[in-house]
Amino acid sequence: MDFPADIKDNIMDNEKGNQICTDAPMPAPRDQRRTWTFGFLTVFALYFLLSLHPKIPVPYRPCGSHGVRIEEGVQMPHVEVDKPLVPLEAHIMSKCPDAKYCLQKLILPAMMKVVDKVNFTLSYIGTPTENDGVDCKHGPSECLGNIVELCAISLYPSPKTYLGFTMCLTRDYEDIPQKALLEDCALEHGIDFERLNECATRDDGGFGMGMLRDSVRRSTDAGVTKSCTVRLDEEIYCVRDDGEWKECPNGAGMNDLVIAVQKLYNSSS
Ligand SMILES: *[C@@H]1O[C@H](CO)[C@@H](O)[C@H](O)[C@H]1NC(C)=O
Repeated sequence: MDFPADIKDNIMDNEKGNQICTDAPMPAPRDQRRTWTFGFLTVFALYFLLSLHPKIPVPYRPCGSHGVRIEEGVQMPHVEVDKPLVPLEAHIMSKCPDAKYCLQKLILPAMMKVVDKVNFTLSYIGTPTENDGVDCKHGPSECLGNIVELCAISLYPSPKTYLGFTMCLTRDYEDIPQKALLEDCALEHGIDFERLNECATRDDGGFGMGMLRDSVRRSTDAGVTKSCTVRLDEEIYCVRDDGEWKECPNGAGMNDLVIAVQKLYNSSS
């Protein structure tokens, strides 16, 4: 029977018997032992005190301070997550030059800074008709453009995606709803054109018209008639109409909107 090397060494050491004992160092004198004991106790006490502080990382904590740490861990993000988002809404028409300017100069740059603090909604302006349809100011092609954009919103709910796509279409709003423009903008913003097309034509267009009707009703209920109207916390914040900013008491600059959002966000509990 063969033993592993370290066990063999042990056996051999044991066989040497006394020799091990005589090789061992002499017991330390009394004073030296007292110093060691004192040092050990000091280090232990220091470690214990440090471990009570939840922010100081130590490899082992007594059970009592575990509790403190976990409570803090739960409460800290709690406060952040619970803060209500500030409602921000832009009411537009897809083939409107004021909407283009408004998205480009105000909404998109402001959203880049406060996307995590707002509940953003993009809504459309039109006139509901008696047969459950919608009339659009710039004709049926604008209604179709609105529907395509609402489809992007429903398929890709992140404002980063659908606002980018909508801005892309709006840059060439005269060409809405040409297929080449829709395809280019979809590709540019990671939107699957087939899914977009499927959404816009679902139920012979009834699905998209339903979304447009709901969106238009939302604008009508808010008393909004001009594209582009920006509403912050359910109040009109600013209007872009006939190539001018109107009704913007807090300023039409991107920074003004960012500051207004931050103020509302911070004042809510
Ligand atoms: C965002 O606003 C819509 C209505 O405008 C509401 O239905 C929804 O619950 C809100 N979402 C959040 C996360 O506040």
